[in-house]
Amino acid sequence: MTTTIDVHLVDYDLAALEKNYERISVFVTDPEKLTKLAKQVDYITKGAFVRAINSQEFTEKCCGQVLTLSFPGFFKASYLDIIKWSKSITCYDARKAGVNLAKQSKSGDTLICFETEKFPEEVLKGFMLRKYDFSIHKSKTSSKRLSLGVMLKRPKNFEASLIETKAIVDGVFLTRDLVNEPANILNTLEFSKRLKELSVEGIDIEILDEKKLSQLGMNALLGVGQGSANPSKVVVMSWKGGSKNVQPLALVGKGVVFDTGGISLKPAGGMEEMTMDMGGAGVVAGTMFVLAKRKAKANVVGLVGLVENMPSSTAQRPGDIVKSMKGDTIEVINTDAEGRLVLSDVLWYAQERFKPKAIIDLATLTGAIIVSLGYEKAGVFSNDDGFCEAFVNAAALENEGAWRMPLAPAYDKKLKSRLADMKNVGGRDAGAITAAQFIQRFIKKDMPWIHLDIAGVAHTKSESSYAPAGATGWGVMSLDRLVREKFEDIK
Ligand code: BES
Ligand code: MN
Ligand code: ZN
Repeated sequence: MTTTIDVHLVDYDLAALEKNYERISVFVTDPEKLTKLAKQVDYITKGAFVRAINSQEFTEKCCGQVLTLSFPGFFKASYLDIIKWSKSITCYDARKAGVNLAKQSKSGDTLICFETEKFPEEVLKGFMLRKYDFSIHKSKTSSKRLSLGVMLKRPKNFEASLIETKAIVDGVFLTRDLVNEPANILNTLEFSKRLKELSVEGIDIEILDEKKLSQLGMNALLGVGQGSANPSKVVVMSWKGGSKNVQPLALVGKGVVFDTGGISLKPAGGMEEMTMDMGGAGVVAGTMFVLAKRKAKANVVGLVGLVENMPSSTAQRPGDIVKSMKGDTIEVINTDAEGRLVLSDVLWYAQERFKPKAIIDLATLTGAIIVSLGYEKAGVFSNDDGFCEAFVNAAALENEGAWRMPLAPAYDKKLKSRLADMKNVGGRDAGAITAAQFIQRFIKKDMPWIHLDIAGVAHTKSESSYAPAGATGWGVMSLDRLVREKFEDIK
């Protein structure tokens, strides 16, 4: 399932205002200076438009907010959306305007009329991102695809930008679809099948099964999945859009399709949310999809560890000691701290096999990061200031919350085990940091690395900036931007 809306460009023509749309949206920068389009709108609405834009309600609105008129005058469309605009508008407000329009529109076709407004691509991105609906499991659902007309003075100049916007939205939607899908449907096998389908976009897909993982020595990962009837898998996605001799950027995702906690069972309340525990893998998949769709001139390899954490007679026990692919032994104190076990092996494998330029892992890793940062910002951990700054900047420009957290040897001490090289938990205090410290043990010396703890941002109970309640797709846009800015060959 990708974009649920058909977007097409429309030539600038005032006659379009009288066509059969359900809603038409126009921008108002200065109520005192009516554009040709505004005058025409006012004429058709029999003066309702000018009354509206001079109203107190409209005057008090902020940039990007919308006032909607229903059935005004002789307007053929049922609704006229008036978007408050300003010459000094920011790209964030422009995207927000698109979000606001999308929230207004229910069904039926929409026309957005641009004149000389800045950031049309951001308005569209906001609109498309918010027009997402995961209703495939509802019996009564309309299958009608919405259509969005975009009227522009020079639509030809906008074609390339529209293709790019669509690529980004499709990637975000892929992530959201994966994250929203329940675990009885999106089990490890189904997940790997859906990733295999990405090969039509030119991504090389390789699926490593348990036999292969065992040969590689990925016992930390295999231990997490050993209690499940669903086989563990690692999927490698390679996008080779850059020069042959350039080492790739590696993206690694935690793909726990369901996290019961294992023998260290989680409480029942809210456990259903653990269908989202493959959020890191979802973001890696969505990002790879965007890169391929927009034919990014970069080499990027995405690896996801797909496992299910279940309690059963074959499940891993607290106290078990496993030997990771790196060779370090881990005492599993708590089987619910499983994400780091999965990541340790996939990260090691990624570095051994691909010798990446840099590596980023994403994981719904700890409840502790939600205590720290809530649902607004992901925790960013890094061993490289420059790389970290580049990511945090990219995230800021995409308005995806990200906040750097510390790493320090002092926290690392908490992982000392009596019996093995380390234990998998460090106690309640600074839980997100000790988890990051654990992961850092599997990062090679001098390897630029970022760990993103996305437990709070991958999925939200109420709507987020660009998504309705549920999966957000957080991170796809930031990572795509990071690749564009730091990892693409000079064009
Ligand atoms: N998947 C969870 C973390 C999580 C919590 C994600 C809430 C999304 C929302 C992770 O595997 C986990 O269970 N972490 C434990 C670690 C603890 C046992 C050290 C946690 O955070 O409680
Ligand atoms: Mn867990
Ligand atoms: Zn988990």
